[in-house]
Amino acid sequence: MTISTPCRSLISLALLSAFVASAVAQSPRRKPAEPEWTHAAWMNTTLSADERADLVLKELTLDEKIDLLHGQGMPGWGPPKANAHLGNGGAGFVLGIPRLGIPFIQMSDAAYGVRSSAMNGRYSTALPSNVGAAASWDTQAACDYGALIGSELRAQGYNMTLGGGVNITREPRNGRTFEYQGEDPILAGTLVGNRIKCEQAQHVLGDIKHYAVNDQESGRNEVDSIIGIRALRETDLLAFEIGISIGDPAAVMCSYNAINGDYACENKYSLTDVLRKDWHFKGFVLSDWGGTHSTLKASAAGLDNEQPGENFFGDAYKQAVTEGKISKAELDEHVHRILRAEFAAGLVDNPIKKSVVDVMGGLETAQRIEESSIVLLKNANHLLPLDKSNIHSIAVIGDHANYGMISGGGSAQVDPPGSAAPQWLEHVWFPPSPQWAIADKIHEAPIKFDSGADPAAAAALAKTCDVAIVFAQQWTSEGMDLKDLSLPNNQDALIAAVAAANPKTIVVLETGTAVTMPWLDQVGAVAEAWYAGSRGSLAVANVLFGDVNPSAKLPMTFPRSEADLPHPVVVQPPPHSESASPVMRKENAKASFSVTYDEGLKVGYKWYDAEKKPVLFPFGFGLSYTTYTYSGLSVTPGASPTVSFTVTNSGSRPGTEIAEVYAALPTSAQEPPKRLVGFSRVTLAAGESKTVSLSIDPKYLSIFDEAGDKWKLVSGSYSFMVGGSSQDLPLTKTIAIN
Ligand code: BGC
Repeated sequence: MTISTPCRSLISLALLSAFVASAVAQSPRRKPAEPEWTHAAWMNTTLSADERADLVLKELTLDEKIDLLHGQGMPGWGPPKANAHLGNGGAGFVLGIPRLGIPFIQMSDAAYGVRSSAMNGRYSTALPSNVGAAASWDTQAACDYGALIGSELRAQGYNMTLGGGVNITREPRNGRTFEYQGEDPILAGTLVGNRIKCEQAQHVLGDIKHYAVNDQESGRNEVDSIIGIRALRETDLLAFEIGISIGDPAAVMCSYNAINGDYACENKYSLTDVLRKDWHFKGFVLSDWGGTHSTLKASAAGLDNEQPGENFFGDAYKQAVTEGKISKAELDEHVHRILRAEFAAGLVDNPIKKSVVDVMGGLETAQRIEESSIVLLKNANHLLPLDKSNIHSIAVIGDHANYGMISGGGSAQVDPPGSAAPQWLEHVWFPPSPQWAIADKIHEAPIKFDSGADPAAAAALAKTCDVAIVFAQQWTSEGMDLKDLSLPNNQDALIAAVAAANPKTIVVLETGTAVTMPWLDQVGAVAEAWYAGSRGSLAVANVLFGDVNPSAKLPMTFPRSEADLPHPVVVQPPPHSESASPVMRKENAKASFSVTYDEGLKVGYKWYDAEKKPVLFPFGFGLSYTTYTYSGLSVTPGASPTVSFTVTNSGSRPGTEIAEVYAALPTSAQEPPKRLVGFSRVTLAAGESKTVSLSIDPKYLSIFDEAGDKWKLVSGSYSFMVGGSSQDLPLTKTIAIN
C-alpha cells in the first residue's frame, strides 16, 4: 500500500504526539510538584475562616507575624524599600507567606475606579464620582459599581481595594466630598455597604474609610475633630455602622485626624469599644498612609496594620514583643484578623490571575450609572428635553468641553485611557467630549464651540445659536479644601454673560460638591452631572435630549451661600504645621489644632431644617421630565413599622421616582426636625401607580443614649412623612410608639 505524502505527515505527527504524551506521562519532572501547603489543614474549605486562620497562625515565626502587620512602602513615599519590586504598582502591599500558601495583599486605591492603571501598563474604567453615584439612591447601581471595580482590580493583579469612602458631608468644602456618599448616614451607609458587598464578592479584600470624622482636608494630619458622643454615633459613625453591617468589609481604614483627643489610628473608643465590641467587626484595621503615630498605644487601641511602611509596626513592634511590652496574645490577635480576612474574602482559595479588563462592559456600566446620577435641578418652560425639530444650532461652551469631562483628583484619580499616569493634583478630563456627544445626537444642527475663557466672546457665540449649553466645572481633590462653593475661574460671570445673550442657556455642572449659583434665575435649565466618569458626556447628551428621563436626587444640600453653613470658614492648621511629611511621624505626637463640630446632630438638611435656613436646592431634590403624585399613606406599628403608600406617574413619559420617607421623632428625643428613614426607587410607565411598602429598621428611629451607651427608642409620637424631596413631603401619618 502506498501512502500519500499528506497522509504520511499526518501519521508522523500522530506518532510524535503519542511519543510526547507518553514522555510527559513518564517524566516525573514535567508535572510541577504541588506545594506542600495544598494539602495543609487550613486549605480545608469546610472549616471557617477563623479556624483556618488559627491553623496558619500556629505555623508562623515571629518575623512572619510582624511582616503581616505592616506595608512594604509605596512608590514615591520615602526611599524605596528592599521589597519594592514585589509590589504591583499600587498604593501598598503586605508580604504573604508563600511557604504556607498565604498570598501577598496587593492594594490599590479604587474610589471611583482602579488607580495607577497606567503605571502598570493597564486600563481601568472611571465610574461617576461616589457622591454622583449616590445621587441615584440605587443599591443595585452601588452593587454594580463595586462589582466592576472588584473585577478590574483582580484583572490588574490586585486583591485589595482601598475604596469605600463614607465620611458624611459635614463640611461641603471638603475636597474629598466627591469620594463620599453625601450627608445622610442612612443613605450613605446603605450605598457604601452594597458597593463593598459586591466588590468583595470578586475575591478582593473590601475596605471602608476614613474612620472617622475626617471631614475636612485642611490640616488633616494634625486636626482633632471634637464631637459629642451622641452626635458621633448618630451621624458619622452610623454611616460606617450601616456600611459594615451590609458590606462586611475585610478592612476598616482609620483616618489621619484625631477624634476627641486621640488619633483615629490609636483611638480605643472608635477602634475597640465601638468597632469591635459594639459592632462585632471581625476584619482588620489598617492605617491611612502615614496615619500611625505609635506602637504600643496604637496596637492596644486596635490598629492591626500600618501603611504604607513600618515606622511603628515593624522592628519597633518586634522589639516590644520581645521585651514583653506587647503580649503574644495581642500580637496574635492582630495577625489572626488579617489572616482571617484573607480566608473570608476567598484570597487564599482564588489566587490572583491577571486578565484583560472588559473595556466595553465597563464603559456601559459607567454610562448607565451616570444616567441615573444626573440631577435635573431646574427646567424652566420645559426647555429640556431638547426638541431636535426646533434646533438649528447649538453653542457648546466650557473649558475642555471639546475634549472630555473633568474628574476628581488625589489618590482617587483614575488614569485617563491611553495616557501616562497624571501628576498629583493634575486635572484630568475623560473623553469623549460633550461637543462630540451632542453633535452625535443632532446631525442637522451645527455645534459651535467656545472655551468660555472670554465671557464676551462666548456670549457673542451664544447669541447666534438657538441653544447654549455651558459645561461649568469645579475641580476638587484630596489634600485640599475649597475656600468657598463658587464656581472657579470666572465661570459665574461666564454663565451670566451667556444667559444674558441667550435665555435658552442650559448649565451642566461638573462638580465634586455643592456650588452656589448667583445666575440661577437667568438660565433656562441646570443639570448636575458631578464628575461623570468614562462616557459621562454620552450620559449627559442622553438626558439633555430625553433618551433618558432624569431620576436622580441630591444626596447633599446645596446651600444658598457659605454664610449659611454651620461653620463660616474651614478651620486652618497653625502656620508651624508639620503635616506636610507624614513619612516619619514623631511618636505619640498630639494634634496641633481642633475643629469643634458643635452643630452635632444637625448635619446637612438637619441643620437647615433646625435653623430654618432656606437653601438653594434641598437634600433629596431632583426633577424629572414627568410628574409624580403620592397618596394613601398608612403606617403599621410594630418592631419595624411598615410604611406603605402609592406613587403615581401623573405625566406622559415613563420614569423612575425616588420616593423618600422621613420621620420626626417625639419632642422629648431632642432631635433635628426630621431624618431620612427609608427610600425606594419606583419605575413607572406613564399613568401607572405602584404601592410601596417599606419596613423601617428600629435603629433608624432610635437615638444614641450616651449615658446608657446604647441605642434607645424613645416612647412617644412619631410622624412619618413621604414624598419626593426633603422639602416636598405631601403625606404625613403620626403613630405612637411605646
Ligand atoms: C489617602 C487614602 C489612600 C491612601 C493610599 C492617603 O493619602 O487618604 O484614602 O487610600 O493615601 O493612596
